[in-house]
Amino acid sequence: MTIMNIALEKSGAPMYRQIADAIADKVVSKELAPGTKLPTHRALADALSVTVGTVTRAYAEAERRGIVEAKVGAGTYICENNRPLWSFSDPDRQDVLSFGYNVPPTINRADLFAEALEQLAAHPQELNSLMLYQPPSGIVRHREILADWLNGHQVNADPSRLLFCSGAQNAMQLCLMTLCRAGDTILTDKFTYPGLLSLARQLQLTVKPVEMDDEGMLPESLSAACQQYQARLVYLTPTLQNPTTATMSEARRHALIEVCEQQQLMIVEDDINGLLPTERPSPMVNLAPDNVIYIGGLAKTLAPGLRLGFLHLPERFYPHFVNALQNHSWMISPLLTAMASILLENGAANQILETIRTEMETRWEIATRYLGTDSLRYHPNAFHGWLMLPEGWALSEFLAASKTEGLELKSSELFVPAGYSAPPKVRIAVSAPPSREVLEQGCDKLSKLLANPPLTEFAL
Ligand SMILES: Cc1ncc(COP(=O)(O)O)c(C=O)c1O
Repeated sequence: MTIMNIALEKSGAPMYRQIADAIADKVVSKELAPGTKLPTHRALADALSVTVGTVTRAYAEAERRGIVEAKVGAGTYICENNRPLWSFSDPDRQDVLSFGYNVPPTINRADLFAEALEQLAAHPQELNSLMLYQPPSGIVRHREILADWLNGHQVNADPSRLLFCSGAQNAMQLCLMTLCRAGDTILTDKFTYPGLLSLARQLQLTVKPVEMDDEGMLPESLSAACQQYQARLVYLTPTLQNPTTATMSEARRHALIEVCEQQQLMIVEDDINGLLPTERPSPMVNLAPDNVIYIGGLAKTLAPGLRLGFLHLPERFYPHFVNALQNHSWMISPLLTAMASILLENGAANQILETIRTEMETRWEIATRYLGTDSLRYHPNAFHGWLMLPEGWALSEFLAASKTEGLELKSSELFVPAGYSAPPKVRIAVSAPPSREVLEQGCDKLSKLLANPPLTEFAL
């Protein structure tokens, strides 16, 4: 029976939970059909080299989740109407070695979230108030907690300037909706986040890419772009830029701020990855709080499923952004900001962030063992790297070949505005594979593919 050969990891989640998770995964992938009888506790314990107590606990956990039921005297069965409500593994994608999305690595957050939910549940009066409409600017106490947390991570945040939103993507949308009109031009790095490009397209904005080096945007090129275009704003990701991983030095940040002040150009600082490195230069918002709209979020540091982002705004813009948020969705769910506040305040968010950082360090050790570092730009705490293809591989051919191999990577074409040329590079999200083992398989495949470009055809 498939359940007899579950691969248990040596570290990480407790054994009983790993077994319960594996049962849930096999139910979702239909390897275990409703009505299937599971092995006895003793048989499974022997097969997996764990104690009978561990299997008893695993079955109890699976029962608690509504996946199995114990029938007195008859054994344990997969429920006919099992409800693994919240498992999103997609059986169609199980063969894909995905390096595609910049998602946090798979780590166990369930215990910390369960504790936070229990804390919420323990205060029925407050819980009731979270079911009501609140002001669009959010609950003041929640903004104070967020400001305290940000201050602990080098971001000088003032609660009266903070505005919650539905992720950093929504923050970008509010910026463009509030500051731009159709037909306007915005400036970005030469390679930039596809979510921004897509949003600009929808809002009928023109994106003009500005030259960059290893540190990000070049001040002299920004200055030249300002002479050439009447731009509304410049969008920057000073720390762990997506896709290049470029991080600006403090001097570069100052130089860009100086250009923007001279040109009266607003800076939108996307700091979505800013908290991943243990150390980094001061965020731009600290250097020019009245000229920088700061975008942050909990997707990369805590959990993307929380869907919580935030803006730190120059005072003069605050009412306009509140109005934009109100037009968009009235407010961000107070239940959500309460949940996040608990996690930020009780240390759980920092604990998760630390686990993510450590996991990424291990993952990059694995990835660089296979891919080397000569053609790869990466940072040990970043989710993604920027990989230069070896000579002999044209971008389109490589993308087609990697797809055939079941490898999912992101082409450089996605990171440039329409009509601009893309270099022979791909973004590789080392955080995305579901485990270190899958990461290793993927890196092995990828390194072999990179080393074997196709034979070149030539014309007479
Ligand atoms: C640079 C950048 N900005 C914004 C986002 C969107 O973040 P969120 O999930 O908080 O909407 C991402 C997501 O990958 C990103 O890479």
